[in-house]
Amino acid sequence: MVAAKIVFITDDNKYYIPADCKTKTSKSLMATLIPAAAPLTKDVEKCFRSKDPSAAGYDFSKLGEVFEFMNQDRASCDGKWIEENLVPSQYKTKDKIRTILDIGCGVGRITVNMAKYFPDAKLIGIDVDKYAIETALKLKEEEKLTNVEFYLMGAEDLKPEWTGIFDWVTMLTVLHDLPNPDPCLRQVLRVMKDNGVMTILDPLCHSDPKLNVGSKLFASSLTMSCYVCLPSSLSEPPAVGNGIGWGFENRAKYLKQNGLTVHGDDSVAVIHCSKAGK
Ligand SMILES: C[S@@+](CC[C@H](N)C(=O)[O-])C[C@H]1O[C@@H](n2cnc3c(N)ncnc32)[C@H](O)[C@@H]1O
Repeated sequence: MVAAKIVFITDDNKYYIPADCKTKTSKSLMATLIPAAAPLTKDVEKCFRSKDPSAAGYDFSKLGEVFEFMNQDRASCDGKWIEENLVPSQYKTKDKIRTILDIGCGVGRITVNMAKYFPDAKLIGIDVDKYAIETALKLKEEEKLTNVEFYLMGAEDLKPEWTGIFDWVTMLTVLHDLPNPDPCLRQVLRVMKDNGVMTILDPLCHSDPKLNVGSKLFASSLTMSCYVCLPSSLSEPPAVGNGIGWGFENRAKYLKQNGLTVHGDDSVAVIHCSKAGK
Protein backbone atom coordinates (compact mmCIF):
# COMPACT_ATOMS: atom_id res chain seq x y z
CA MET A 1 0.00 0.00 0.00
CA VAL A 2 2.84 2.40 0.82
CA ALA A 3 4.73 1.37 -2.33
CA ALA A 4 1.61 2.03 -4.39
CA LYS A 5 1.11 5.41 -2.64
CA ILE A 6 -2.31 4.40 -1.34
CA VAL A 7 -1.13 4.67 2.29
CA PHE A 8 1.62 7.14 3.26
CA ILE A 9 4.30 6.74 5.94
CA THR A 10 5.91 9.42 8.11
CA ASP A 11 9.63 9.55 9.05
CA ASP A 12 8.72 8.08 12.45
CA ASN A 13 6.84 5.15 10.85
CA LYS A 14 3.25 6.31 11.31
CA TYR A 15 0.86 5.26 8.55
CA TYR A 16 -1.81 7.59 7.25
CA ILE A 17 -4.13 8.29 4.32
CA PRO A 18 -4.20 12.02 3.41
CA ALA A 19 -7.70 13.47 3.77
CA ASP A 20 -7.85 14.38 0.09
CA CYS A 21 -6.98 10.80 -0.94
CA LYS A 22 -9.74 9.10 1.04
CA THR A 23 -12.21 7.18 -1.08
CA LYS A 24 -15.08 9.43 -2.08
CA THR A 25 -16.91 7.39 -4.62
CA SER A 26 -20.66 6.99 -4.85
CA LYS A 27 -20.12 3.28 -4.28
CA SER A 28 -18.44 3.73 -0.88
CA LEU A 29 -20.97 6.38 0.09
CA MET A 30 -23.90 4.09 -0.62
CA ALA A 31 -22.28 1.16 1.18
CA THR A 32 -21.87 3.17 4.37
CA LEU A 33 -25.33 4.70 4.17
CA ILE A 34 -27.04 1.33 4.32
CA PRO A 35 -26.47 0.71 8.09
CA ALA A 36 -27.84 4.23 8.78
CA ALA A 37 -30.99 3.57 6.75
CA ALA A 38 -31.56 -0.10 7.69
CA PRO A 39 -33.69 0.67 10.81
CA LEU A 40 -36.25 2.21 8.43
CA THR A 41 -36.94 -1.10 6.69
CA LYS A 42 -40.38 -1.65 8.32
CA ASP A 43 -41.49 1.87 7.41
CA VAL A 44 -40.30 1.40 3.86
CA GLU A 45 -42.26 -1.85 3.55
CA LYS A 46 -45.41 -0.08 4.76
CA CYS A 47 -44.94 2.88 2.49
CA PHE A 48 -44.72 0.74 -0.64
CA ARG A 49 -47.83 -1.23 0.38
CA SER A 50 -49.95 1.93 0.34
CA LYS A 51 -52.68 1.77 -2.30
CA ASP A 52 -52.73 5.55 -2.57
CA PRO A 53 -49.56 6.53 -4.46
CA SER A 54 -49.66 10.08 -3.07
CA ALA A 55 -49.46 8.69 0.49
CA ALA A 56 -46.52 6.44 -0.20
CA GLY A 57 -43.96 8.47 1.68
CA TYR A 58 -43.18 8.29 5.40
CA ASP A 59 -42.45 10.58 8.28
CA PHE A 60 -39.12 12.20 7.44
CA SER A 61 -38.35 13.00 11.06
CA LYS A 62 -37.31 9.33 11.09
CA LEU A 63 -34.39 10.16 8.82
CA GLY A 64 -32.32 11.62 11.69
CA GLU A 65 -29.76 8.81 11.47
CA VAL A 66 -29.37 9.32 7.74
CA PHE A 67 -28.89 13.07 8.22
CA GLU A 68 -26.35 12.39 10.96
CA PHE A 69 -24.44 10.13 8.60
CA MET A 70 -24.56 12.79 5.85
CA ASN A 71 -23.26 15.37 8.29
CA GLN A 72 -20.16 13.27 8.89
CA ASP A 73 -19.76 12.14 5.30
CA ARG A 74 -20.06 15.62 3.82
CA ALA A 75 -17.23 16.91 6.05
CA SER A 76 -14.78 15.52 3.50
CA CYS A 77 -16.40 17.65 0.77
CA ASP A 78 -13.85 20.38 1.43
CA GLY A 79 -12.73 23.30 -0.75
CA LYS A 80 -10.61 21.03 -2.95
CA TRP A 81 -13.58 18.67 -3.51
CA ILE A 82 -15.88 21.63 -4.18
CA GLU A 83 -13.45 23.10 -6.72
CA GLU A 84 -12.88 19.77 -8.49
CA ASN A 85 -16.47 18.51 -8.44
CA LEU A 86 -18.92 21.39 -8.23
CA VAL A 87 -17.61 24.76 -9.32
CA PRO A 88 -18.58 25.52 -12.95
CA SER A 89 -15.53 26.27 -15.10
CA GLN A 90 -16.45 29.95 -15.54
CA TYR A 91 -16.36 30.44 -11.76
CA LYS A 92 -12.88 29.06 -11.06
CA THR A 93 -11.78 32.69 -10.77
CA LYS A 94 -13.56 33.35 -7.52
CA ASP A 95 -14.31 37.06 -7.97
CA LYS A 96 -17.01 36.25 -10.56
CA ILE A 97 -19.30 34.71 -7.97
CA ARG A 98 -20.91 36.88 -5.32
CA THR A 99 -24.25 35.26 -4.52
CA ILE A 100 -24.95 31.54 -4.01
CA LEU A 101 -28.18 29.74 -3.12
CA ASP A 102 -27.93 26.11 -1.93
CA ILE A 103 -31.38 24.53 -2.21
CA GLY A 104 -32.01 21.53 0.06
CA CYS A 105 -28.77 22.27 1.92
CA GLY A 106 -29.46 19.54 4.50
CA VAL A 107 -27.22 19.86 7.56
CA GLY A 108 -25.24 22.55 5.77
CA ARG A 109 -21.82 20.93 5.63
CA ILE A 110 -21.24 21.55 1.95
CA THR A 111 -22.83 25.04 2.16
CA VAL A 112 -20.46 25.96 4.99
CA ASN A 113 -17.49 24.61 3.04
CA MET A 114 -18.63 26.60 -0.02
CA ALA A 115 -18.79 29.72 2.21
CA LYS A 116 -15.17 29.09 3.22
CA TYR A 117 -14.15 28.44 -0.39
CA PHE A 118 -15.84 31.69 -1.56
CA PRO A 119 -15.07 34.03 1.38
CA ASP A 120 -16.17 37.13 -0.57
CA ALA A 121 -19.51 35.66 -1.65
CA LYS A 122 -22.80 35.75 0.23
CA LEU A 123 -24.41 32.32 0.61
CA ILE A 124 -27.90 31.21 1.53
CA GLY A 125 -28.83 27.62 2.38
CA ILE A 126 -32.48 26.61 2.57
CA ASP A 127 -34.12 23.34 3.57
CA VAL A 128 -37.60 22.16 4.58
CA ASP A 129 -36.23 20.01 7.39
CA LYS A 130 -36.10 21.63 10.85
CA TYR A 131 -33.40 19.31 12.21
CA ALA A 132 -31.24 19.95 9.13
CA ILE A 133 -31.47 23.76 9.45
CA GLU A 134 -30.90 23.70 13.22
CA THR A 135 -27.76 21.60 12.64
CA ALA A 136 -26.61 23.92 9.85
CA LEU A 137 -27.06 26.99 12.09
CA LYS A 138 -24.96 25.33 14.84
CA LEU A 139 -22.25 24.55 12.30
CA LYS A 140 -22.23 28.15 11.06
CA GLU A 141 -21.75 29.31 14.65
CA GLU A 142 -18.97 26.79 15.35
CA GLU A 143 -17.14 27.89 12.21
CA LYS A 144 -17.74 31.61 13.03
CA LEU A 145 -18.87 32.33 9.49
CA THR A 146 -20.56 35.62 8.63
CA ASN A 147 -21.10 35.12 4.88
CA VAL A 148 -23.72 32.35 5.10
CA GLU A 149 -27.37 32.33 6.20
CA PHE A 150 -29.68 29.35 6.63
CA TYR A 151 -33.48 29.41 6.37
CA LEU A 152 -36.17 26.84 7.08
CA MET A 153 -37.98 27.13 3.77
CA GLY A 154 -39.22 25.08 0.85
CA ALA A 155 -37.71 25.57 -2.60
CA GLU A 156 -41.25 26.45 -3.77
CA ASP A 157 -41.37 29.47 -1.42
CA LEU A 158 -38.20 31.43 -2.16
CA LYS A 159 -38.42 35.07 -1.02
CA PRO A 160 -39.82 37.62 -3.52
CA GLU A 161 -36.81 39.90 -2.91
CA TRP A 162 -34.44 37.20 -4.18
CA THR A 163 -35.64 37.63 -7.78
CA GLY A 164 -32.68 37.67 -10.20
CA ILE A 165 -29.96 37.97 -7.54
CA PHE A 166 -28.08 34.63 -7.58
CA ASP A 167 -24.95 33.94 -9.64
CA TRP A 168 -24.94 30.29 -8.67
CA VAL A 169 -27.76 27.99 -7.52
CA THR A 170 -26.91 24.49 -6.33
CA MET A 171 -29.16 21.46 -5.78
CA LEU A 172 -27.00 18.69 -4.40
CA THR A 173 -28.77 15.32 -4.24
CA VAL A 174 -32.15 17.07 -4.04
CA LEU A 175 -33.88 17.25 -7.45
CA HIS A 176 -34.60 13.51 -7.78
CA ASP A 177 -36.02 13.52 -4.18
CA LEU A 178 -38.73 16.10 -4.83
CA PRO A 179 -42.40 15.01 -5.01
CA ASN A 180 -43.22 18.21 -6.94
CA PRO A 181 -40.16 19.52 -8.79
CA ASP A 182 -41.98 21.89 -11.23
CA PRO A 183 -42.66 24.83 -8.85
CA CYS A 184 -39.18 24.44 -7.43
CA LEU A 185 -37.60 24.77 -10.86
CA ARG A 186 -39.80 27.78 -11.67
CA GLN A 187 -38.51 29.44 -8.49
CA VAL A 188 -34.90 28.65 -9.41
CA LEU A 189 -35.38 30.31 -12.80
CA ARG A 190 -36.86 33.36 -11.05
CA VAL A 191 -34.07 33.85 -8.50
CA MET A 192 -31.14 33.06 -10.81
CA LYS A 193 -29.46 35.93 -12.67
CA ASP A 194 -29.91 35.75 -16.45
CA ASN A 195 -26.22 34.81 -16.77
CA GLY A 196 -26.34 32.62 -13.65
CA VAL A 197 -25.51 28.92 -13.43
CA MET A 198 -27.38 26.10 -11.75
CA THR A 199 -25.39 23.06 -10.65
CA ILE A 200 -27.26 19.83 -10.00
CA LEU A 201 -25.89 16.68 -8.39
CA ASP A 202 -27.87 13.43 -8.49
CA PRO A 203 -26.62 9.88 -7.96
CA LEU A 204 -26.21 8.20 -11.33
CA CYS A 205 -28.14 5.50 -13.07
CA HIS A 206 -29.87 5.08 -16.43
CA SER A 207 -33.57 5.87 -16.90
CA ASP A 208 -34.03 2.61 -18.82
CA PRO A 209 -33.78 -0.25 -16.24
CA LYS A 210 -32.34 -2.56 -18.90
CA LEU A 211 -29.25 -0.35 -19.12
CA ASN A 212 -28.64 -0.68 -15.37
CA VAL A 213 -28.36 -4.47 -15.43
CA GLY A 214 -25.03 -5.69 -14.05
CA SER A 215 -23.90 -2.39 -12.48
CA LYS A 216 -23.11 -2.85 -8.79
CA LEU A 217 -22.94 0.92 -8.35
CA PHE A 218 -26.42 1.46 -9.80
CA ALA A 219 -27.79 -1.52 -7.81
CA SER A 220 -26.56 -0.04 -4.51
CA SER A 221 -27.80 3.46 -5.45
CA LEU A 222 -31.23 2.10 -6.34
CA THR A 223 -31.38 0.17 -3.05
CA MET A 224 -30.74 3.37 -1.17
CA SER A 225 -33.30 5.14 -3.32
CA CYS A 226 -35.98 2.71 -2.06
CA TYR A 227 -35.19 3.79 1.51
CA VAL A 228 -34.87 7.54 1.13
CA CYS A 229 -35.24 9.10 -2.33
CA LEU A 230 -38.26 7.28 -3.72
CA PRO A 231 -40.42 7.60 -0.55
CA SER A 232 -39.39 11.26 -0.48
CA SER A 233 -40.48 11.78 -4.08
CA LEU A 234 -43.80 10.06 -3.25
CA SER A 235 -44.41 11.90 -0.01
CA GLU A 236 -46.96 14.46 -1.20
CA PRO A 237 -49.00 15.29 -4.30
CA PRO A 238 -48.34 15.16 -7.20
CA ALA A 239 -45.92 12.46 -5.98
CA VAL A 240 -43.91 12.20 -9.21
CA GLY A 241 -41.98 9.27 -7.73
CA ASN A 242 -38.61 9.93 -9.36
CA GLY A 243 -35.94 8.78 -6.90
CA ILE A 244 -32.56 7.75 -8.27
CA GLY A 245 -34.28 5.51 -10.84
CA TRP A 246 -35.36 8.70 -12.66
CA GLY A 247 -31.96 8.38 -14.34
CA PHE A 248 -29.77 10.95 -16.02
CA GLU A 249 -31.49 10.70 -19.43
CA ASN A 250 -34.90 11.69 -17.97
CA ARG A 251 -33.25 14.35 -15.82
CA ALA A 252 -31.69 16.04 -18.87
CA LYS A 253 -34.97 15.79 -20.80
CA TYR A 254 -36.91 17.31 -17.89
CA LEU A 255 -34.50 20.23 -17.46
CA LYS A 256 -34.53 21.02 -21.18
CA GLN A 257 -38.35 20.89 -21.26
CA ASN A 258 -38.47 23.33 -18.34
CA GLY A 259 -36.40 26.22 -19.62
CA LEU A 260 -32.81 25.17 -18.90
CA THR A 261 -29.88 24.45 -21.18
CA VAL A 262 -27.57 21.72 -19.90
CA HIS A 263 -23.92 22.45 -20.69
CA GLY A 264 -21.49 19.66 -21.53
CA ASP A 265 -22.05 16.00 -20.79
CA ASP A 266 -25.47 15.37 -19.22
CA SER A 267 -24.70 11.72 -18.38
CA VAL A 268 -22.60 12.57 -15.31
CA ALA A 269 -23.68 13.06 -11.70
CA VAL A 270 -22.87 16.79 -11.61
CA ILE A 271 -24.30 18.91 -14.41
CA HIS A 272 -24.32 22.65 -15.03
CA CYS A 273 -27.30 24.48 -16.55
CA SER A 274 -28.22 28.02 -17.53
CA LYS A 275 -31.47 29.67 -18.55
CA ALA A 276 -32.34 28.59 -22.08
CA GLY A 277 -31.47 31.27 -24.65
CA LYS A 278 -29.27 33.24 -22.21
C1 LIG B 1 -30.34 14.00 0.23
S1 LIG B 1 -30.47 15.47 1.15
C2 LIG B 1 -29.13 16.43 0.50
C3 LIG B 1 -28.59 17.46 1.48
C4 LIG B 1 -27.40 18.28 0.99
N1 LIG B 1 -27.70 19.00 -0.23
C5 LIG B 1 -26.19 17.41 0.81
O1 LIG B 1 -25.85 17.08 -0.34
O2 LIG B 1 -25.59 17.05 1.81
C6 LIG B 1 -31.89 16.23 0.39
C7 LIG B 1 -32.35 17.48 1.14
O3 LIG B 1 -33.38 18.13 0.41
C8 LIG B 1 -34.31 18.66 1.34
N2 LIG B 1 -35.58 18.95 0.66
C9 LIG B 1 -36.52 18.06 0.23
N3 LIG B 1 -37.55 18.72 -0.34
C10 LIG B 1 -37.25 20.04 -0.29
C11 LIG B 1 -37.93 21.23 -0.72
N4 LIG B 1 -39.11 21.17 -1.32
N5 LIG B 1 -37.33 22.41 -0.51
C12 LIG B 1 -36.13 22.49 0.11
N6 LIG B 1 -35.45 21.40 0.56
C13 LIG B 1 -35.99 20.20 0.36
C14 LIG B 1 -34.40 17.55 2.38
O4 LIG B 1 -34.95 18.00 3.60
C15 LIG B 1 -32.93 17.14 2.50
O5 LIG B 1 -32.25 17.87 3.48
